[in-house]
Amino acid sequence: MKRAIIIDTDPGQDDALAILLALAAHETLELRGIVAVAGNVPLPLTQLNARRLCDLAGRPDMPVYAGCERPMVRDLITAEYVHGKTGLDGYDWPEVKTPLQEQHGVDYLIEALRSASEGEITLCTLGPLTNIAMAMVKAPDCKRGIGEIVMMGGGFFEGGNTSPAAEFNILVDPHAAHVVFGSGLPLTLMPLDVTHKALATKERIAAMQALGNETGKACAGMLSFFNRFDVEKYGSLGGPLHDPCVIAYLLEPSLFGGKAIPVQIDIAPGLTLGMTVMDWWGMTKKPPNCTVMKDIDADGYFKLLTTMFARLP
Ligand code: RIB
Ligand code: CA
Repeated sequence: MKRAIIIDTDPGQDDALAILLALAAHETLELRGIVAVAGNVPLPLTQLNARRLCDLAGRPDMPVYAGCERPMVRDLITAEYVHGKTGLDGYDWPEVKTPLQEQHGVDYLIEALRSASEGEITLCTLGPLTNIAMAMVKAPDCKRGIGEIVMMGGGFFEGGNTSPAAEFNILVDPHAAHVVFGSGLPLTLMPLDVTHKALATKERIAAMQALGNETGKACAGMLSFFNRFDVEKYGSLGGPLHDPCVIAYLLEPSLFGGKAIPVQIDIAPGLTLGMTVMDWWGMTKKPPNCTVMKDIDADGYFKLLTTMFARLP
């Protein structure tokens, strides 16, 4: 039985590899739709990039929706300094073919979740949580269709990557994250604590290039561009490949290790706005609301990616 998923995303090179992985794993995952959100770059670009990726994977039939163009409360902040002006710099993208659906992405989420059976859909979020939170606020009953939310976001032992305390996806829309983390739904989180252990090193990029297909060429080009910011900032051997951790977890959960703990989002204005406050040692005595991943088999992760990308055009 395939697992039905919906991806909410702000492509972004790392989102790109996550979407390609999900499309390659079509025997295991039934990707019902992709919803773009404003994040790494503004919404007109994130929706265009999501469509470009469907073209690359040979899936112009994949329904792609545009969701919210700004966070619930804060003004939008973007990350062209990481992803480039287009959000997918590093590859020469042809004219896009995959159409954009008319329906608003939030209305699609509500409709898809309302028509699903109880717990049928796994939501995979790769960007700010604006669309998910707006759907929950507009139609709380739609939560019934969600079995689990697997998210990339946050950080604790690793700190933040956009402020000293906050990771980008959460800091862009901390109020949306507050809604989602308070939803009572089963949550699995891939924070910087795990994604910073999954570095796209030169050797790992070369393995994708060596695939000899267009997907391998595009991924190698995108990662080479995406690497430069983190390598310079952290002096690391490669950029952290954040978002594909979400999809890899669905395919091979044994690649990851973590524990169920209480996590709260700081929504107070100030230095720690958007911080994922993780009670790793159970000091608050609150019940866990999230399984937080901290360990990864990085070699196994990149082997999975490269093996699956070989299946694409
Ligand atoms: O902080 C990393 C996250 O923010 C990733 O999802 C990246 O694509 C950006 O959205
Ligand atoms: Ca992202």
